[in-house]
Amino acid sequence: MSTTWLLTGGAGFIGANFARFICETRPDVTLINVDALTYSGNLENLAGLENHPRHEFIKGDVRDAQLMRELIDRCDAVVHMAAESHVDRSIMDSKPFIDTNIGGTQTILDEARKLSSTTGSKRVLLVSTDEVYGALPLDRPDLLFREDTPLAPNSPYAASKASADMLVRAAHHTFGMDVVTTRCSNNFGPYQFPEKVIPLFVTNLIEGRKVPLYGDGLNVRDWLHVIDHCEAIVRVLEGGTPGDVYNIGGNNERSNLELTKSILDLMGRGDDMIQHVADRPGHDRRYAIDASKIKAELGWEPTRSAWPDALVETVAWYRENEGWWRRVKSGEYRAFYARQYGA
Ligand code: NAD
Ligand code: DAU
Repeated sequence: MSTTWLLTGGAGFIGANFARFICETRPDVTLINVDALTYSGNLENLAGLENHPRHEFIKGDVRDAQLMRELIDRCDAVVHMAAESHVDRSIMDSKPFIDTNIGGTQTILDEARKLSSTTGSKRVLLVSTDEVYGALPLDRPDLLFREDTPLAPNSPYAASKASADMLVRAAHHTFGMDVVTTRCSNNFGPYQFPEKVIPLFVTNLIEGRKVPLYGDGLNVRDWLHVIDHCEAIVRVLEGGTPGDVYNIGGNNERSNLELTKSILDLMGRGDDMIQHVADRPGHDRRYAIDASKIKAELGWEPTRSAWPDALVETVAWYRENEGWWRRVKSGEYRAFYARQYGA
């Protein structure tokens, strides 16, 4: 049976990969893709889908209640991933994070609930993040984030996402809404905005610039290929228990220094290209996900994240798509870079 999903934030990194993945693999799904096209939203990420019969792009803001109501009315379920997504930007200015990540999420919940009396309950999936759990210590490799780990967000970004999680939880508890939440670890792959560490470092090296490594470089992230994340979102959307949370992760922990050295090796550059810079304020030490629930309940397994092949493939994508990131790295990006890293 055919179905229509509303995708929010579908011109960003994960959203565009999700749109491409669904158009390629799910002939039964039509996507309505709404995105405000902020600095990280880019229609070039959706190139080739312009005339796709099962993909419709609409420029719009998730805080626009009337628009959300119209679009939710036209769909059977919502995949909500529109957000301000970069920790460093949230440290510079938290306001857009509060407005979009919290306000936008509540707008979607409110409009979906109002419609449910006439059209029946429509599932809303919130794409959240492992950052809501805070940080794990480096000297306890046995500790992983589980779905019942208490939330302890440390950055304005993480706090805004944790707030959205709590609003989704409340919508289920108070109104019985059909909601599900996913909390994923760090993604990598094509079309990632080059403020994030992997595309930033790869593109800097192509430009002949050094790579700015924060602090001692020993912070650990759990890396997952973006298409593995997209597959997991589909599993949870279609099979998740109403009101539940599902962790998603690659069991692929790497320190930033290890990641940086791998990228330098792949690019044929040495350690002299590392520029040690001041640490990120409040920098979370380690993220690591226990994804056993989604594996056991929904049969999800990552198939695209094996290291180092997945990193090799991603580095190759940025090498082959220089026009894409060079256009992104002009304009607003330059002002951000100067503010974040100095001249
Ligand atoms: P991104 O910054 O690349 O994309 C975000 C998209 O949201 C952009 O296209 C932007 O234009 C859009 N957007 C922002 N504000 C909007 C608004 N008010 N209305 C409509 N659209 C708006 O981010 P991403 O890395 O693709 O992350 C997508 C989602 O996944 C976010 O919710 C993020 O918290 C979550 N997430 C990301 C990762 C990761 O590693 N990148 C991991 C776990 C979860
Ligand atoms: O864990 C999921 C989260 O992963 C998502 O919720 C966020 O939206 C996404 O941005 C990402 O957050 P991080 O802060 O982990 O990603 P980022 O790429 O910014 O940084 C990854 C690590 O690299 C982190 O420890 C900081 C470090 N870093 C980052 C930058 C940009 C550097 O050392 N230098 C840099 O210039």
